[in-house]
Amino acid sequence: MEKVRKTLCEPFRIKAVEPLTVTTNDYRRRALEEAGFNPFLLRSVDVFIDLLTDSGTGAMSDRQWAGIMTGDESYAGARSWLRLEKTVKELTRMPFVFPTHQGRAAERILYGILGGQGKTFISNTHFDTTRANIEFTGAEAIDVMPEAAKDEEVFLPFKGNIDLLQAEELILEKGPGNIGAVIITVTNNSAGGQPVSMANVKSLRGLCDKYGVKLVIDGCRIAENAFFVHEREEGYQNKTYREIASEMLALGDAFIMSAKKDGLVNIGGLLCLKDENLAQQCRNQLIISEGFTTYGGLAGRDMEALAIGLDEVFDPDYLRYRIRSTTYLGEHLRSMGIPVVWPIGGHAVYVDAGKLYPAIPKDQFPGQVLVCDLYLAGGIRCVEVGSVMFGKRGERGEFIPAPRELVRLAIPRRVYTQSHIDYVIEVFGDTLEQRQKDRGFRIAWEPPFLRHFTARFSAV
Ligand code: F0G
Repeated sequence: MEKVRKTLCEPFRIKAVEPLTVTTNDYRRRALEEAGFNPFLLRSVDVFIDLLTDSGTGAMSDRQWAGIMTGDESYAGARSWLRLEKTVKELTRMPFVFPTHQGRAAERILYGILGGQGKTFISNTHFDTTRANIEFTGAEAIDVMPEAAKDEEVFLPFKGNIDLLQAEELILEKGPGNIGAVIITVTNNSAGGQPVSMANVKSLRGLCDKYGVKLVIDGCRIAENAFFVHEREEGYQNKTYREIASEMLALGDAFIMSAKKDGLVNIGGLLCLKDENLAQQCRNQLIISEGFTTYGGLAGRDMEALAIGLDEVFDPDYLRYRIRSTTYLGEHLRSMGIPVVWPIGGHAVYVDAGKLYPAIPKDQFPGQVLVCDLYLAGGIRCVEVGSVMFGKRGERGEFIPAPRELVRLAIPRRVYTQSHIDYVIEVFGDTLEQRQKDRGFRIAWEPPFLRHFTARFSAV
């Protein structure tokens, strides 16, 4: 057994560099004020370490950049498309593959067909664009997570699983014919990037077969999930990560992927299907709104890079490094007494700002306070996943908080080194000392939908 060392040692070396701007405290204070205390409104040049998302923010390899040059830009039947199609078919074992410009385009196409008034979708947790695309059709989206998985501190190996009993109850309550689909999100992004077990997906397949309901796998982090199955699930230690991913994908009727995550590319998405009839309907929508079937929403070079990315993402050295680097950050924060969602998931560390700032009322957004404090202390950008994002107004205008006041630190793939992450840990230490303990923000302006992107705040 190879010795596990303290130093992560990224399994790559750097061939091109992108300079970062080093800023001062005063500079960051001004930048944040101009951005209305909303890091989404900061310019990226004013950010030192950007942990806003792991989506489309990864670094491509030299092989992928070489692929960019050899991309075939033919409108129909491009070589790059044939290469991508072959790679995806081998991985998913699904006969129909459509390229889209990103994940939500695949969602719009599929749920536009399966959804509509009176339909219900059931998921472990619908990602926000998934929910929005479903609700836009007039259908409803219901999350069913096991009660035990809602406890932030308890260690469960597969905290991303769907609750099978609740799912079955819902199918019976609504009537199987009214279920648009059951969607399993792997890893479960909105629930802390937690993995889903193979056993859970197998049982879900059985449930869907029992009632004749479709099973969709939302698998933009399928390789990261395969890593956890290999580590934690009985019987998978001798399988490769790719074999594990294929086995899981084969259980679905459809696979939706935002390639901006485990595709290791900056833009792209996939919609894969087994059913020919459904594929024909999707094909029509694809041609109307994305592009012809052999490029969808992508350039030939994007497809070339994605085919290579889908190969590289299953490299054991890469995946080990990837998951270890997220865990490294999470474990250090936890050892400093910072409340994190436990165990650490695949792509991000989630900090409970409600617990870190107990004196700040929820309607003054403790998560937003932490996000701003981290930027001020060290130019780190991350996102609030609490009452700014999910808080609501009741019928009488009263404030209804989100269940938890979390902050997500998402790690871009192959971008930051261990010393960058050590820096983040150090800045967290400073933030703990300097945090403003009792006053938060109020919203100075907000749009009618998805307010977290553009709202402006002022100090209370
Ligand atoms: N499904 C999941 C589970 C996702 O995490 C995302 C995107 C999508 C679908 C939509 O894909 O962005 O390519 O249209 N998640 C990003 C994030 C935005 O920051 O977690 P997209």
